[in-house]
Amino acid sequence: MRKRSIIQMVFVGVVVGVAVAVVAYFIPWLPQNASEEATAIDRVYWFVTIICIAIFALVAAVSVYSVWKFRAPPDDNEDGSPIHGHTGLEIVWTAVPAALVTAISIYSGVVLAGLENAPDGSRKVNVSGQQFAWSFSYPGTDVTSGQLVLEVDKAVQLTLTSKDVIHSFWVPEFRMKQDAVPGTETHVVITPTKVGTYEVICTELCGLGHAVMRSQAVVLGPGDYEKWMSEQKAGGAAAGGGGSDGKALFTSNGCGSCHTLADAGSTGQVGPNLDEVLKDKDAEFVRTSIMDPDAEIAPGFQPGIMPKTFGDQLSDEQLDALVKYLLDSTKGG
Ligand code: CUA
Repeated sequence: MRKRSIIQMVFVGVVVGVAVAVVAYFIPWLPQNASEEATAIDRVYWFVTIICIAIFALVAAVSVYSVWKFRAPPDDNEDGSPIHGHTGLEIVWTAVPAALVTAISIYSGVVLAGLENAPDGSRKVNVSGQQFAWSFSYPGTDVTSGQLVLEVDKAVQLTLTSKDVIHSFWVPEFRMKQDAVPGTETHVVITPTKVGTYEVICTELCGLGHAVMRSQAVVLGPGDYEKWMSEQKAGGAAAGGGGSDGKALFTSNGCGSCHTLADAGSTGQVGPNLDEVLKDKDAEFVRTSIMDPDAEIAPGFQPGIMPKTFGDQLSDEQLDALVKYLLDSTKGG
């Protein structure tokens, strides 16, 4: 009788376990895997998932069996028999979860510690977050971009910081996530393995524009990366080496993540569409709007969203170039 009960419970457990394992395996619940680090992180996810499936199957087996075998008949109003605990069982169900949780913490700790070390020869990219845009600069060059451009199969160490509040850098396909904190530097290592374009997401609530604080990580093949880099360097040199090309400034300061501007190919919707609001404006208005954004708010928009730091960030020469570019690109459009 007892042996039969165990066989029945094991049967229920196996059926439930297999069903849940099939669901976990065939439903793509993780984002695409596009970095070496993602493979290690996913292994941790699967380790935890397999433990969860086993525990779920065990609980389901005991529950289903109890409902089935110990159901009270409709006319049975008696109290249940007075049972006072079971020391052996309590020791087991305390010790087993403790061992599992310890195993999970050790395994994930070892994996995470391993991912923090930048391999020798890693590229370096500096990442700067600000309300509400990312900008990326490439040490050893004066290249700055509004998108993170990486080369496939090359490890890169990102050094993150913030100009205002805490942001958090995350590309789901790379799995790695790191805070960008004002006044200090944090690091994260990424080795992209697939050419493509992925979304960079801010995952720390950082103000009104948090939800739209997005950019792209573009992973290029080796030849395309070199080509992109030399084009960027040539672009900087053409503008006098100081990076005072208006269009480049628009892009590198992240203006396009909030503003639509046809000439720069940006489609941001957080702030006013510059093609529309700047059509009949003069240099004075554009300059004031950059340095003191709340001086005049376009209808339908709110004050306090655009950073007030651009006046300090840009040199006078850069400011002039940006104002000129905005006027030229929106006049008579
Ligand atoms: Cu930056 Cu949220």
